[in-house]
Amino acid sequence: MNEVKDKLESFQIHDFQHDLISWYKHEKRDLPWRKDQDPYKIWVSEIMLQQTRVDTVIPYFNAFIGKFPTIEALATADEEEVLKAWEGLGYYSRVRNLHSAVKEVANSYAGVVPNTPEEISKLKGVGPYTKGAILSIAYNIPEPAVDGNVMRVFSRILSIWDDIAKPKTRKIFEEATYKLISKEDPSSFNQAVMELGALICTPTSPSCLLCPVREYCSAFAEGVQAELPVKSKKKKPRPLQMAAVVLYDDHGRLYIHKRPGTGLLANLWEFPNMEIKAETKESYREQVKQFIKEEYQAEAEISELTGTVEHVFSHLIWNISVFIGTLTNIPSEDLLPVTEEEMKKYAFPVSHQKIYKIYQEESKS
Ligand code: ADE
Repeated sequence: MNEVKDKLESFQIHDFQHDLISWYKHEKRDLPWRKDQDPYKIWVSEIMLQQTRVDTVIPYFNAFIGKFPTIEALATADEEEVLKAWEGLGYYSRVRNLHSAVKEVANSYAGVVPNTPEEISKLKGVGPYTKGAILSIAYNIPEPAVDGNVMRVFSRILSIWDDIAKPKTRKIFEEATYKLISKEDPSSFNQAVMELGALICTPTSPSCLLCPVREYCSAFAEGVQAELPVKSKKKKPRPLQMAAVVLYDDHGRLYIHKRPGTGLLANLWEFPNMEIKAETKESYREQVKQFIKEEYQAEAEISELTGTVEHVFSHLIWNISVFIGTLTNIPSEDLLPVTEEEMKKYAFPVSHQKIYKIYQEESKS
């Protein structure tokens, strides 16, 4: 930390801010959340942009704001509808937290996103990054908004060799940003750093020759930009063999299940599925048959293996074998019968959208 302080002693802060912000004002991308400074829209965009690329976020952001244009609109919306608008973006706890925090803003802050670090931090899902992003971008308050991209940029500019995969490292970058951030235009400053990280100071092969702040960059001066940031590798995700079955009855209705309200993919809908037991000799198909009987009192003719779906989470890989089952009785109420038209209302994880596609392809042939 003290090393960083020493480096900042001789750093041309004003010139750096000026060159960075001028570049940003000329080169910034025309992104839908940059049309105005509405704190609600900034908030939605920043939550979407966590773990998701800008190109992917743009259509989701436009559709989400189209559906829920204000705090009031989102606060009064159904959870089902909100999850549906997020379908495919992943990391669904982001949107459940956002929904609950927006209700809190509607009820306790008269629908106005609070503009102090203390109040905004109390909202669900608003961590140090989102707090800084909203306060700086929407309210022009000089707060750092440090994520992985910002750490990459500053690790190079200031030649910081701490491991950015360690949670405590973020503090070092926040301290540095407090010193560097423009007090006149913190909104442009933070967005300029994000923009520099996205367009110039990229993870591999940064475009140093085009960089507007190259003359301030320690890593460039030392020729070590490719070695920074230091980021230790995460554990590999654990593979899990699963089976899923699309059950349908003789009215052509499909039977779907709502996941529990907590944990992975909470409250999303799915086809009945199970973890495969490796230690038995029984076929996957036989295991599926037993599972639906025990879990849902369902009797069905189960197809041969119809397809496979893989889905990679940060900690887990689902390898799903897909079956189709013709029901010969009515299963328990833990499964909801829906028509193909009704399917469109419910939010499914991407893996189960793929399972549904396999079923649709198969039932055409
Ligand atoms: N990444 C995170 N926040 C961003 C923003 N506001 N604009 C562009 N990229 C971002």
